[in-house]
Amino acid sequence: MTILITGGAGFIGSNFVIDWLATQGEPVVNLDALTYAGNLHNLVALNGDSRHHFVHGDITNRSLLDQLLQQHRPRAVLHFAAESHVDRSIHGPGAFIKTNVEGSFTLLEATRSYWNTLEDEAKAAFRFLHVSTDEVYGSLSPEAPAFTEDHVYAPNSPYSASKAASDHLVRAWHHTYGLPVLTTNCSNNYGPFHFPEKLIPLMIVNALAGKPLPIYGDGQQVRDWLYVRDHCSAIRAVLAGGRVGETYNVGGWNEMANVDIVHTVCKLLDELQPSPQGPYARLITHVKDRPGHDRRYAIDARKIETELGWRPAETFDSGIRKTVQWYLDHPQWVANVQSGAYREWLEEQYTTAAGSNLSIASTASIASTASIAPTAPTASIAPTASTASIAPTASTASPAPTAPITPVA
Ligand code: NAD
Ligand code: TYD
Repeated sequence: MTILITGGAGFIGSNFVIDWLATQGEPVVNLDALTYAGNLHNLVALNGDSRHHFVHGDITNRSLLDQLLQQHRPRAVLHFAAESHVDRSIHGPGAFIKTNVEGSFTLLEATRSYWNTLEDEAKAAFRFLHVSTDEVYGSLSPEAPAFTEDHVYAPNSPYSASKAASDHLVRAWHHTYGLPVLTTNCSNNYGPFHFPEKLIPLMIVNALAGKPLPIYGDGQQVRDWLYVRDHCSAIRAVLAGGRVGETYNVGGWNEMANVDIVHTVCKLLDELQPSPQGPYARLITHVKDRPGHDRRYAIDARKIETELGWRPAETFDSGIRKTVQWYLDHPQWVANVQSGAYREWLEEQYTTAAGSNLSIASTASIASTASIAPTAPTASIAPTASTASIAPTASTASPAPTAPITPVA
């Protein structure tokens, strides 16, 4: 048997593929377009592993999807691929509509065609698992109960609106066509391989480089943080035992304000790699708030616990310590993601131009520190073959990073 994963070179997808092969051993076809967020360095530990077939391609490419489904005949499709960064969605929503809406539609249609060709038993056992976010539910007031699966959808950003649209498509493909779907709506993840445009890895990378730690607005926005490998185990649990057509909320029972997250990261760095200049918290800088910034997310994860017996294995204390240590242990991984595209993003998001949200020194310097000096862009290790090419990871990822990337501990 085989499963097909989309977006398996991204943050959560790569953690999932590594954990899946370690715990389940079932072969994986991993389809990823290798956007700025896709990184084959995340999968270096799987080089030479014949159970992992990496395919460089786009989920909007219907003929490629048809070809892959026919060739590999997966028993399940797990859909991680997305544009995932809220701030980028504010600057350029088009890519979010293209991948998250049109791409999800194309994947659903290709999967439906393939599923219709299966024999009765295989058809009944087949699953389409859609990986989504708690952000589709919108913002909570401080005292409101956490999001249950019945919470009304009220997305506020182009990102969350595009994910909400994809959730609705998945739901409709079940109700209309009978496609056996499952949806997970998860809270904020953190952990190894997290691209340093998101809060936690950005704070770690900037602190180590002696750069400002930009907190949007008053920093009292609340998120519910989950260690990424706990998200992966939740997805495995839903795939194995989730009821068809159902959605499952996944969270860490760990609500924290952004400013407290940043102080926690600073304190851990003070302990693990003290700076001669003094505590890292000296770098904290409050900057202009994100437009439409959701105030609070919180997940009620009782359904997945009651039905499937899933609970997170990590506490925030244990997960954030592992995460900070991982970044300290992998400076080469950080260096490799400091691509030209990443530097341009930092310029666009944080420089002092009118309307920007960082009232501090030019961020040109944020990416120019020797310790995290950019090397080759991630894309340079991408396979050169066309988007329709199909090749095993062993060959596509062969130019290994100069420092070994160990499997997630
Ligand atoms: P990510 O941005 O790190 O990775 C996304 C991956 O999808 C990348 O490897 C990218 O190359 C690939 N991709 C993008 N467009 C593609 C396309 N058109 N065709 C094929 N591949 C494409 O994202 P992530 O943080 O790993 O999130 C994975 C999924 O989990 C997303 O669907 C996201 O909405 C969801 N999610 C994320 C979080 C979080 O905290 N990161 C929380 C809940 C849900
Ligand atoms: P992020 O990691 O972008 O995830 P999301 O927007 O999907 O929740 O941001 C997490 C929180 O951190 C969010 O409230 C925005 C805030 N934030 C900052 O304060 N400063 C930053 O530089 C970033 C990237 C995020």
